[in-house]
Amino acid sequence: MVIFKKLADIQRYIATQRADGRLVGFVPTMGALHEGHTSLVQQAKQGADIVVASIFVNPTQFNDKTDFEKYPTSVEADVAMLIEAGCDILLLPSVADMYPDGTDSMQSYNFGYLDTVLEGEKRPGHFKGVGQIVARLLDIVKPDRLFMGQKDYQQCMVVKNLLQQLNSTIDMVICPTKREADGLAMSSRNRRLTEPQRALAGVIYQCLVSISTKQTEGNFALVQKECADLMAAKGFEVEYIALAGANDLTLLDNYDINRPMVALIAAKLGDIRLIDNMLLQ
Ligand code: PAF
Repeated sequence: MVIFKKLADIQRYIATQRADGRLVGFVPTMGALHEGHTSLVQQAKQGADIVVASIFVNPTQFNDKTDFEKYPTSVEADVAMLIEAGCDILLLPSVADMYPDGTDSMQSYNFGYLDTVLEGEKRPGHFKGVGQIVARLLDIVKPDRLFMGQKDYQQCMVVKNLLQQLNSTIDMVICPTKREADGLAMSSRNRRLTEPQRALAGVIYQCLVSISTKQTEGNFALVQKECADLMAAKGFEVEYIALAGANDLTLLDNYDINRPMVALIAAKLGDIRLIDNMLLQ
């Protein structure tokens, strides 16, 4: 794997690869990699000729300063994992390189409704930061295909919307969430869970399964309350347990079997915020 810190160098290198007719797959990350990330690299390997990953903990997408300060980093281990997964190129830029003139003068994107609900509502400014950094990374890497994880469902919708705003031809591939044995969605933030918190964290997945399997009962409010009570009893601070249209994230009061739906949960264990989702069959 070739590692680049300087933007001009990676751009030159990727340009020669593209000139040789290679299709470029891109996996943007904030590091602290886990199997979820390596599965993105593996899927990118199947859908592209060369795979570029980036590690950049983007300060502008953290609405919570403590979350940013405590965000785990493990560059050496990340590099080893990317090599093992078959990644070809790694971009490791600095904040100064990514934001040479700060962010005030950078173009920002309007995600409308998507920025007002769920993660948008709970994390003001988060998607603005995601939009800016993803647009910047795409402009540097110029991939043919972009690989992102379904775990961040709303982020995937925001990035799809960004690609439309950019009139981009980049093909976005959304890859399934990787889970631990108890169903907990793999996430860099899981590293910060204490042992007792980790033992409880699988409850989020249990609730998603329950929302999915109890569809026939037809009363989402009841299932939602059961989940909220269960999570509160286990010590979670629930931010939302929601049901939404899978294509547009319209919030639903009840199950609607005539449309694709997604269940989404965000909750805190101590100061660690976890999110997960499940598409309903
Ligand atoms: O999902 C992430 O890790 C980040 O939000 C992303 C897409 C790399 C942008 O910083």
